[in-house]
Amino acid sequence: AMARKPLVAGNWKMNGNPTLVREMGDALNKLDTDAMNVVVCPPSCFLPLFANTSFATAGQDVSANEEGAHTGDIAASMLRDLGCKYVIVGHSERRQDHGESSQLVANKAKRALSEGLVPIICVGEPLEVRESEKEQEYVEQQLLPVFETLSKQELSQCVVAYEPIWAIGTGKTASPEQAQQMHAFIRSKLAEQDSVIAEGTRLLYGGSVKPDNARELFAQKDIDGGLIGGASLKTDSFIAICQATQ
Ligand code: G3P
Repeated sequence: AMARKPLVAGNWKMNGNPTLVREMGDALNKLDTDAMNVVVCPPSCFLPLFANTSFATAGQDVSANEEGAHTGDIAASMLRDLGCKYVIVGHSERRQDHGESSQLVANKAKRALSEGLVPIICVGEPLEVRESEKEQEYVEQQLLPVFETLSKQELSQCVVAYEPIWAIGTGKTASPEQAQQMHAFIRSKLAEQDSVIAEGTRLLYGGSVKPDNARELFAQKDIDGGLIGGASLKTDSFIAICQATQ
């Protein structure tokens, strides 16, 4: 993880309120954010409440379309205008709840990039795939449309998050070895596209990251930070996780 700047993103999912926005904003503004990128991904209705922050904000999802007749969706240009630098695409909860395909996820990443946002592209296998030891094939299939849809230049701007579904919100973290193994695999797939891009791309681990397991996970060679769910809703925990990158 040496040449790559660590990144910690807090995915609030469908949680939070204006009070948490204020508390988290005050707490994170005191962090030294030179050594790492800190990103808060609140529900989009709260994005306008984050003003003048020393950390970055992100959407949790974005439309693959341009502005227009798409009720309920949010355009990449709108996230950008609200000050977002990043956007999560392809979170497993969106793939599950909204039937998002890997091709749609790739299209969303491309749209985000065209508006200057950095997509955090999420991949990860369900439990039954892990149990049948097919997790690498599964993740590779999720990545293929990304490789086919994005140019090299676009790919070089992306962040990839590995979130094994069995570790999300379950308190069951992938072991540092399991996580590192998949991260190394993802980097090898990136290297098949372009070795320079592979070296520069930040790969985040997500799934029950907590203050007491973050440091060991982030110490792995190919783990460049984390995508944090539950623990990103508590200022103390989230800050401790951010500091665990150092
Ligand atoms: O996107 C973050 C995530 O899915 C992990 O959630 O609650 O297991 O940290 P959690």
